[in-house]
Amino acid sequence: MAHYKKLIGKKCYLSPCSIEDAEKWTEWDNDMEVALPLGDEAYMLYSLDKEKEIIADVIKKQDHVFVIIDLQTDTMIGHCALFVVDRVDRKAMFGISIGDKSYWNKGYGQEATKLILDYGFNLLNLNSIMLGVFSYNQRGVNCYKKVGFKEIGRRRQARIIGDKKYDIILMDILAEEFESVYVKKVMDKQSG
Ligand SMILES: CC(C)(COP(=O)(O)OP(=O)(O)OC[C@H]1O[C@@H](n2cnc3c(N)ncnc32)[C@H](O)[C@@H]1OP(=O)(O)O)[C@@H](O)C(=O)NCCC(=O)NCCS
Repeated sequence: MAHYKKLIGKKCYLSPCSIEDAEKWTEWDNDMEVALPLGDEAYMLYSLDKEKEIIADVIKKQDHVFVIIDLQTDTMIGHCALFVVDRVDRKAMFGISIGDKSYWNKGYGQEATKLILDYGFNLLNLNSIMLGVFSYNQRGVNCYKKVGFKEIGRRRQARIIGDKKYDIILMDILAEEFESVYVKKVMDKQSG
């Protein structure tokens, strides 16, 4: 699998995705521990063919989807994206999945999130980026808080699993609240 260093951090980098990534994506989306915090991945059937179609569509539409690569080993560990990009009001939604569970709780989620926010705020010139996270996903909530997202509200009982109902927590971050982790560094180098 060929990956390319588009946005580089200390632990990981973000690369465009390619069709060959589909096999890993299929494995992850069929892993219930990864899929349950995500959403429809838990109950929809994600086959290899479907994942290939999804990635082909991303490439065709030039969607803002990146794979997350461990810098040290060059291993693909997950993916993240900005979607529903609104050019008029300069806002977008954010989503992330670290499918390789051996990388959980090691700061990769926080760093990958900062890298894609840098891309969103400083290259797409967005002003507001929002996400939704299920109330049972404390790892996710903590990860986003540490990056600078703030809770702005909840959609109550919007997730039903068995006989339990959970809220979706909405969180956002503004451009003025974010400090560049990579783009500024490259710009400073360019301008001497
Ligand atoms: C959510 C996700 C992106 C977070 O990435 P990560 O690399 O595991 O998280 P990080 O290590 O960067 O940060 C998580 C923080 O939450 C903490 N944490 C972990 N589990 C926790 C729990 N059950 N309760 C409270 N805090 C928790 C970690 O200790 C860490 O904080 P720290 O830096 O102070 O130690 C990743 O775990 C993932 O993709 N999970 C599966 C799919 C998913 O949930 N996607 C997001 C849907 S909104």
